[in-house]
Order: sequence, then C-alpha cells, then structure tokens
Amino acid sequence: MKKMLTVEPKGSFNIDFKDIASDKSISHRCAIFSLLSDNSSKIKNFLEAEDTLCTLNIVKSLGAKVEKKGGEYIISPPSKICEPPIILNCGNSGTAIRLLMGFLSGIDGFFVLHGDKYLASRPMKRVAKPLREIGAKIDGRSDGEYAPLSVRGGRIKAFNFKSKIASAQVKSALILAGLKSDGKCSISEPTLSRDHSERMLKEMGLEIESSGTTVSFFPPKSPLKPLDITVPNDPSSGFFFAVAAAITPNSKVVLKNMLLNKTRIEAYKVLSKMGARVEFIEKESKYDRVGDIVVEYAKLNGVEVSTNIAWLIDELPALSIAFACADGKSIVKNAKELRVKESDRIRSMVLNLRKCGIKVKEFEDGYEVCAGELKGSSVDSFGDHRIAMSFAIAGLRSKMQIEDIECINTSFPNFLKLLSMIAEVDSAN
Ligand code: S3P
Repeated sequence: MKKMLTVEPKGSFNIDFKDIASDKSISHRCAIFSLLSDNSSKIKNFLEAEDTLCTLNIVKSLGAKVEKKGGEYIISPPSKICEPPIILNCGNSGTAIRLLMGFLSGIDGFFVLHGDKYLASRPMKRVAKPLREIGAKIDGRSDGEYAPLSVRGGRIKAFNFKSKIASAQVKSALILAGLKSDGKCSISEPTLSRDHSERMLKEMGLEIESSGTTVSFFPPKSPLKPLDITVPNDPSSGFFFAVAAAITPNSKVVLKNMLLNKTRIEAYKVLSKMGARVEFIEKESKYDRVGDIVVEYAKLNGVEVSTNIAWLIDELPALSIAFACADGKSIVKNAKELRVKESDRIRSMVLNLRKCGIKVKEFEDGYEVCAGELKGSSVDSFGDHRIAMSFAIAGLRSKMQIEDIECINTSFPNFLKLLSMIAEVDSAN
C-alpha cells in the first residue's frame, strides 16, 4: 500500500532549522572516497538516508569495515577490494551507480550494479561509453544503457574526455576511473557542474587542477590521505524550507550549517531575484564554504531561468512552487536534463501543477508557469523524493494530498518532522 501525505497551512512562522538533512552528494563521496586511502576515514554528520546508506553498504560489500562511534562513521578500507558474491544495490541513487561504475572500472574483478525500478530506467551510457573507451568492460540492458550493469575492471588508459553534458556524476565517474590510469587525464564539460569530487580529492592529496570547466590530474602514485570531515547540511534539502518561507506571508527561516558551495546555492539566488529576502552568513570551514542561510517572505515576481541550469537542477521542482505563487509568468529553458532525473521532472511538475489549477506550458527542455491561485489537490510523487517534498511545501498555501511519499526517505528522512513545525501534517497508509 502506498503511503499518502496530507499537508495544510498553519499560518506564519519564524524558525531556525538546525537539522536539515546532511549533504547527499558529499556523503556518497565520503563513503566511496574512503576506499582510496590506506587509512581510516572519519566522517561526522554522514547522511543516514536510503540513498547514502546503500552506498555505505556497497562499500562494506567491497571489503571496508564501517563502524559508528558516537555521531561519527569510521570507514577502514580493505587492503584489496573484494569481488563481492552479490549484486551491489544502489537503490534509487544515480550518484551511487554512476560513481561506482567509474570507481570499479579500475579495479581488478567482476561487479554487478543494480537499483530500484526508477534507477533501472535512467540512462547509463553517458558513463558506460566513455568508460569503455578508456578500457573498462561494461555491459547492461540495451548495450549498457540501463541497469543491471556489469563492470569488469581492468587497465585504464590516460584520457582527455570532452563531455557533452554538464554532469557531476559523469565527471566524477571519469575522475574515479582515471585515478587508476597510466597517465595524465583531463575532463571538460560545457558548463561547470558541482565540484565536490575535485575539492575533496585535492584535500586528500591528489594533484588535481580545475581551470574553468576543465579538470586535469595525475593518477596518484600512493594511496590518498583519509578523510576527516564534517558533512555540512544539504542546500538542496534546505531549499524546500526556503520556498516555504518565501511563499508564506510574515515568515522567515534560518537554515543552519548549510553547504554554501557556489554550484549549490543558485536556486536561493533565483528566489532572491524573484523578490524574497535571502542572506548567506558564511562561517569558517575546511573542505568547502559553509554557513547559515536566512530566507524571508516578500512578494514574489516571475523570473526566467535559462542559465546555470546544472547549479539548480535539483531545486527546480521546489522553485516551480514559488513560480506558481509569484506575480506573472516564469519560464525554465535549457533544462532537458530534468527529464532523466528520479522521474521526468518536467512531466511530473507540469501534470501536478495543472492538477492544482495552475496554467503550465510544457517544452522539450523546460516549461512556463503562469502564476495563479494554487488550489488544494491530490497529486502523485511519481516515486521522486523532490516532487513529493515540493508539493508538500505547496500545502502551505492550500490543502495538498501527495500519494506515494516513501521516496522522501531517499534523501531527507526527517522532512515530515521538520514540516510539522510549520504545517498541519498527516501521513497515513
Ligand atoms: C549529483 C549530481 C547531480 C544531481 C544529483 C547529485 C552528484 O546530477 O542532480 O542529485 O552528487 O554528483 P548530474 O550533475 O549528474 O546532473
């Protein structure tokens, strides 16, 4: 039986959120990158959600010892990666499956990666093809386009890869494979995607240079230094509460200890451009920029979003709720990548917003939202956590019923607890 969520408005709020979920992208990388050292990595505030726990389980299946002491995970890598006798389950996670394809490409052994029905319908050739070209043996349904995927790792040749899409998952998969290559590797992308892999690997001692949209590095001659990191909170998860404040008169949120990497806070800047009051208060930190984000209600205006799409790809569903509550039209262009996320997010948003009485035009690479009164409605999550949470936030304007909300656990297990501080929330089977 699918779980249903009902959300109704509860009035204005002024709240500090200290417990926004930890950053998902960084948590996946912490688990995988700990295998690149010969010493134990220490990770505080690791995201304990379905997606990242799948990655942690896979790292265990590959031979690592994982212990939790207090709030800290200690991941001790094996002296040699094991060839596991089981299928490696990536759950719903595109980051897990794509990064692991890259990592395993350079490891001697045979590995099978799979996931849930949503992951099994997402494109993998964007990673399989370049990895095959540099020496990995990858197979899967439709010639390696869809999971289940098999990887037989081996010798990796040095490469110079020009990606046609700005994707941190593609870039990171290639970087991970290149670490086992026989010479200098470089990867360029049309526009910069999130750069957590480069930053974390540099901190671990890798000679890696980023210049504009190109990253180049030499494979390390010895194991990298272990990680000792506190994962900041996830700005993509925090953004649901930013939109909540931006669409609820007389409301304000302070999101504490958030990652402030410039490739991750673009959606907050769009919200500010629409009229909301947004402030970033930076603190000292080691791996990346971290701080608090303050968002306050103000009357919103429509906006055009056609640049830096890779920097707000995960936030466009929530941003679309702000579009629906603004004055005038908003338009999203150049965002075809939205069609191959956890669901076809253009389709999911268009169908759901129409159910709420909002006029929306659909394009191949985006959509146009004509703001209006969001009417209470019953919508589908399409099995996509960000669609489910976006319409839960729409419930601050009118009563919303969201079907099939289990997917929220993939990235933000305490979402409903935090939501109940600002809305009437009821979840039932
Ligand atoms: C991610 C990269 C993004 C993002 C995903 C997480 C990552 O995908 O949508 O949620 O951790 O590398 P692409 O950059 O591949 O589009």
